Amino acid sequence: MYTELSIFIGYVCIIPVISICTNGLIKDILLYSHALGISCILYLLINQVNTTTTEKNELYGLRHLLFNLRLPPTTLWFNMGLWDKPDLTFPQACENLVHAVAKVMDIKPVSTVLDVGFGCGDSCIVLAEQYTLKVTGITNELSQWRIASDRISSTKLKDQITLIHGSADDLNQHISSTEIYDYIVSIDSAYHYNTRWDFLKNALTYLKPKGGTIGLYDLCIDSEFLKEVSSMQYSFLKLICKASHIPIRNLVTVEEYQKRLVDMGYEKIEMISLDRAHVFGGLSESFNDQYNTVMKYGIGVSLSNKIFLKGSSFIFGLFGTKPWLVPVIVKGEKA
Ligand SMILES: C[S@@+](CC[C@H](N)C(=O)[O-])C[C@H]1O[C@@H](n2cnc3c(N)ncnc32)[C@H](O)[C@@H]1O
Repeated sequence: MYTELSIFIGYVCIIPVISICTNGLIKDILLYSHALGISCILYLLINQVNTTTTEKNELYGLRHLLFNLRLPPTTLWFNMGLWDKPDLTFPQACENLVHAVAKVMDIKPVSTVLDVGFGCGDSCIVLAEQYTLKVTGITNELSQWRIASDRISSTKLKDQITLIHGSADDLNQHISSTEIYDYIVSIDSAYHYNTRWDFLKNALTYLKPKGGTIGLYDLCIDSEFLKEVSSMQYSFLKLICKASHIPIRNLVTVEEYQKRLVDMGYEKIEMISLDRAHVFGGLSESFNDQYNTVMKYGIGVSLSNKIFLKGSSFIFGLFGTKPWLVPVIVKGEKA
């Protein structure tokens, strides 16, 4: 698999050289043979993926795995998780992160909460079931909103949870300014908002005066790294931010983040930096384990998803060991 992948990457890298250094018929022939080569390697890669479920001459192989997979999954979490205990599963680590934020916010039962960037609704379910909160959730992705609405409509939580399809960037388009919440949470999402600073300012409108609390799991840039970063490293970081829809203006140090919250009028601010190994490191290992399980059982995951799992595991592995990003829990209260 790795040999084919390296040859594939090698092939793709040569294309710009051919385009720049040759012309006319030679260029056409070389590009044509290249396209042929790439197609063959892709075919081999995809075919390899499909043959893992059944060994040669086996009648049953592992196809029955499909009959036994529990679908839809019981949870659809996708935050980075908090991996501060041994042997956590991905859903447990994700839920653990929500509890960690709720603990810092000191969430009291029978209150109201706005969950911004709720994913497929798991955090809304936890907040409604385990904290007895009345939850309003908002997310900008229609597919997630549909799945979450579907999940919740068939449970007893349907009267306790309201889900809105809309963006944190224009909350006032979706939520009336007369709606007031005891809490606003945003788990692993605010770094995407355009910008996070406008969101935090707007959020004040929806928080109950004197004690309405916002709580986030969010990302900051390491202050030492920022001091020493070379222009090439910074350009690379900008590239990653662009690819992952993170406005570069959102990437500030913990100290700068706190200062901005103070300037906006938040009180009793807490900025708790988490151990990056307990966030990025745990996530990286979990993706790697999932990749190995997929390969072991020959689950028909597409090549692009396999590359996604391995690639994400690699990147989060780097974030887990390099002092670049700081995972933080943020809390602030409205005066
Ligand atoms: C990493 S996921 C976290 C999901 C969820 N909070 C969880 O814990 O499983 C980030 C979520 O933020 C949402 N998101 C990103 N930008 C948003 C925006 N501008 N407005 C609302 N939601 C947004 C994404 O659609 C996605 O659901």
